[in-house]
Amino acid sequence: MQTKLTKNRISKKAASFTESVIREMTREAVKYEAVNLGQGFPDFAAPEDIKRKAQEAIAADHNQYAITWGVKSFRDAIVEKTKWFLNLDIDAETEITVTCGSTEGMIAGMMATVDAGEEVVVFEPFYENYAPDAILSDAVPVHVPLYQTADGWHFEKDELRAAFNERTKAIIICNPNNPTGKVFSREELEFIADLCKEFDAICFTDEIYEHIIYDFGLPILNFGLNENQQSDENRLPLPQTIQNPKSKIQNHISMAQIDGMRERTVVVNSLSKTYSVTGWRVGYVIAPPDITSAIRKVHDFLTVGAANPLQHAGAYALGLPASYYAELQKEYQRKRDFIVPVLQTAGFKCEMPQGAYYVMTDISDFGFRDDVEFTKYLIREIGVAVVPGSSFYHDKTLGSQKVRFCFCKKDETLRAAAERLQKLK
Ligand SMILES: Cc1ncc(COP(=O)(O)O)c(C=O)c1O
Repeated sequence: MQTKLTKNRISKKAASFTESVIREMTREAVKYEAVNLGQGFPDFAAPEDIKRKAQEAIAADHNQYAITWGVKSFRDAIVEKTKWFLNLDIDAETEITVTCGSTEGMIAGMMATVDAGEEVVVFEPFYENYAPDAILSDAVPVHVPLYQTADGWHFEKDELRAAFNERTKAIIICNPNNPTGKVFSREELEFIADLCKEFDAICFTDEIYEHIIYDFGLPILNFGLNENQQSDENRLPLPQTIQNPKSKIQNHISMAQIDGMRERTVVVNSLSKTYSVTGWRVGYVIAPPDITSAIRKVHDFLTVGAANPLQHAGAYALGLPASYYAELQKEYQRKRDFIVPVLQTAGFKCEMPQGAYYVMTDISDFGFRDDVEFTKYLIREIGVAVVPGSSFYHDKTLGSQKVRFCFCKKDETLRAAAERLQKLK
């Protein structure tokens, strides 16, 4: 019998997604053997000790489903690390959900809280997953621009205020920010917090780059301990209490630390970037108990749970000494300080990012029609892969003269890219 295909087999939601440009450029990079400074994953080895803990966990037979909201020892490690790093007391039983990466954490968080038609404010440019997240949760995204200035990326307070109204359910911030490298100041966070309180909105804060923050990370090691901090020589002083006098930028501040925000903040985090294990797909969400309870249900039906043995390794990773985080910062700062002048010399307009491991650049001096055309030229003729800027904007024209470089790569990879980029001149 002949079968009839009369129905629309693809849902409206799925049909409305455009394929990830970042992943497409990775495929192009492989095809043309380009040096890949596109997708944000390290090309160097993950830490040996963390890998060994994962192997041991498999050998010890942590191979069946874990508790859906996360292995107890991993949740305990999250509690301890959050106390140390953010000075926040959270409850492992009611405020943490372990997810399949922060990617699942964000979408589970949105599906657990946002109803169809409710508005979610998103700064633009944004990490490209937030757009499909809004579609999947039936949210209406409301975009607020971040403007690039010589002094970093900023939003206009009146534009942000105008984006809030009685339909606003939430705002998404990414801090430190992908793709801009912006680190939100305390003053900016307080302004956002006041709007959340005034309009009874939730703040989703993606903090997966919390340890990749520059200029102020390293010097705090020399500051010694504050009187009320534990004299554990392996742990850094609590960062938020310490300022680097040489920098006007503060160290990482979580939205959950801002007065009155604990009860309306959903922190999304992950092992991916801090421990260089993006393929493990282990993340976590910290949220007030009522929201956590809803997130756990969505998470359970979406995935059942994150990989059990890798959560055991995660418990070890989160307990690493301060020196681990200091070294991570130092390494990325070195890479940033190498690549940014290379890009500027090659003709890209850009500034030093304050955090994360990306450089968003302006390509208008090269005279290409748009970012996709330029990116293809860069991959095919120069041999370097990047991400077209338009993939970070809902209005593609806004990113049409931008491309994003990623520098979480081996020194030799960055040097090879630098050499090839000289051909651009
Ligand atoms: C801002 C941001 N959030 C989330 C992710 C995805 O993280 P995960 O591997 O934890 O899902 C990325 C990856 O590049 C990212 O840049």
